[in-house]
Order: sequence, then structure tokens, then C-alpha cells
Amino acid sequence: MLDTLTISTQPTAKSRLPEIDFDNLDFGRTFSDHMLVVDYHDGEWQQPQIVPYGPMTVSPANSAIHYGQSIFEGLKAYKSQSGEVALFRPLDNFHRLNASAERMCMPQLPEEIFMQGLLQLVRLDAGWVPEGPGSALYIRPFMFATDAMLGVRPSESYRFMIVTCPVGLYYPKPLRVRFEEKYVRSAEGGAGYSKNAGNYGAAMYPTRLGQEEGYNQLIWTDASEHKYVEESGTMNAMFIIDGRLVTPALSSSILDGITRRSVLQLARDWGMQVEERQVSAREIMQAQADGTLQEAFGVGTAATIASIAVIGYQGQDYELPAVADDAFSRRATAALAAIRKGQAPDAHNWMVR
Ligand code: COI
Repeated sequence: MLDTLTISTQPTAKSRLPEIDFDNLDFGRTFSDHMLVVDYHDGEWQQPQIVPYGPMTVSPANSAIHYGQSIFEGLKAYKSQSGEVALFRPLDNFHRLNASAERMCMPQLPEEIFMQGLLQLVRLDAGWVPEGPGSALYIRPFMFATDAMLGVRPSESYRFMIVTCPVGLYYPKPLRVRFEEKYVRSAEGGAGYSKNAGNYGAAMYPTRLGQEEGYNQLIWTDASEHKYVEESGTMNAMFIIDGRLVTPALSSSILDGITRRSVLQLARDWGMQVEERQVSAREIMQAQADGTLQEAFGVGTAATIASIAVIGYQGQDYELPAVADDAFSRRATAALAAIRKGQAPDAHNWMVR
């Protein structure tokens, strides 16, 4: 193991920062100047390094490419009006990364590599954290197998990296979604709760079919009965029904979203009734029909809160009421933005400067 952690930095010879148009950022395409890299082999994590962002060499037999031992996280850094940079709940991402690692038979990452690496990298590229409303530095920590070996067994070597991207708003307008009753994102007992690459790859084909029908994304339902809501696209799903916040309870097929946790906490702080339980597509459509479905939205790191305007169910489209100014999702979006930008008290100590 590492006795003392020192992260060496090789700064870029020429920053790309002056070339960036911060008003036109396409999500995940613009990368900041540096990245963190640390390898694992012989049963130990090696010394991490911060180096200029750029391509790397991998073996054609890389076992992550062949068998999918690859996990990731997503979190954001925000800049306050006074120019101070802070991360939103990074330790939660650290713990979830290690939960994903366990599920995918990958080694646990020590907290100091994650936290010190993250802080040192973001400090170095602090100039890349955008300031505009809805914008942030999206941070992508990830780990993948590096054995060059085609046998099917857990790799013995791995790489952990962090890259960062300045980003703006993820979804410019409310979403059209439909319940997916044929394909599934994950089954109970599967790996849906972990943030592994394969969950996202396997969702692409059914999502594309939905997009060809004019929907932005799918509301996934459970694998055994296709009845109960799982997630909405790559986000957790939430509904306001008759003033109550209803969301699917966590399970082995649902990601324990950090935005999900934060939104539930805000709702509880505000004295709302919160129900984490099974919620069926039929219940949502019944609430839509009797006028008690007030809001539907997805919550995730990339989008924070993405309102749903239309839900497709069994071949019919149903419009949701326009989101009112005092709607819960708007209030929660504003409250999270204020905490992140240092304009409201951080009652739960979510921010790490
Ligand atoms: C998120 O909502 O943060 C996600 O997981 C989407 C990400 C894969 C871009």
C-alpha cells in the first residue's frame, strides 16, 4: 500500500482555456487541461499523477473492452459569485464508486487517492469551472481493468482516472418520455445499482427505439412484471402526486443517486410527505387521469432536475400540467443551485471547498 500519498503534477505546456467558448458547451466534449491517473497492480495502488489531458495506449486484449469491468462516477464543482470553487457531496461519489467496484469484482480505491486527487486536480484546473447559471465543471472519475488477457476472470491490474469538463444545461427543455414495457435496464439481483459502463451501453438500443418514436428517453419498468417504475433514462424518477413526493425505493436494480438523496432531503426539510416505495405505471397514469399528478421529473448529476412534459403509455401520449412557478421541482432546483453557488446556508454540509 501507499505509505504517504504524494501526487506529482506535470503541468501542460500550453493551456487550452483561451480557446474555449463557454457559452456553447456541448456536454462532455470539452475537457480541461489535466487529468489524474493512478494504476493498480501487484495488489497495490501506485503513486497517482496529474498529467496533461490526452490519449493513452491500451492493449487490444484489454479486458475492460472485452468483458466490461469498467465503472464511473459523475459529480460537479461549482463556482460562487466570490470565485470560490466547491464540490457537491464528493464523498458520496467515493463511497458509491467503491460499491460499484465491489459488484464488478474490482479493487477498492483508498479515500485519500480519490479525495486528494480530486481536490488537487480541481484546484489546478479551477479556471475551467464555469460561472453561468446552470453551468458547472462536470467531473468524471472512472476505473477500468487493464489486464491484456482474453481469459474470462477478474483483471489483476486496473487504472483509476479523473477527467473534467465544463458543462452548461443538460436538457434545454422539458422531456417527452414513455414507459418501456419490453426491454429492461436491469433486473433485481443484477448490477443496476452499480455505475458500471454496461448498464449504459445496454440501455442505448431501447432508448434509440424510443427516440425514433419522438421520445427523449424511457421510463424503465421492472424486469419481472414490467409494471413498476425503475428509473427515467439515466436518472432517478420522481413524481408529485397530490402534494406527496413519490419515488421508487432503492433496490439492486436502481442507482442510489446523489441528486435523488439530496432532493429527498430537501423535501423532508420542507415538511413534505416523502414516499420511497414501489410505484406502478398504472398508478402514475391513474393520477394523471384524475388530475392528482402534479409533476414528474428525473433527477441526476448531469441534469440536476429534468421536468417531464409528456408521458407515453401503451401507445397514447399524455400531457402533464405546465410546471408552475411554485412547483416543487422548481423550488428544489433553485434551492440546490443556491447551496452550490454559496448563496444559501449549506445546512447538511454538502459542499467541500
Ligand atoms: C447523470 O444523470 O448524472 C448520469 O448518470 C448521466 C451521465 C451518464 C451523463
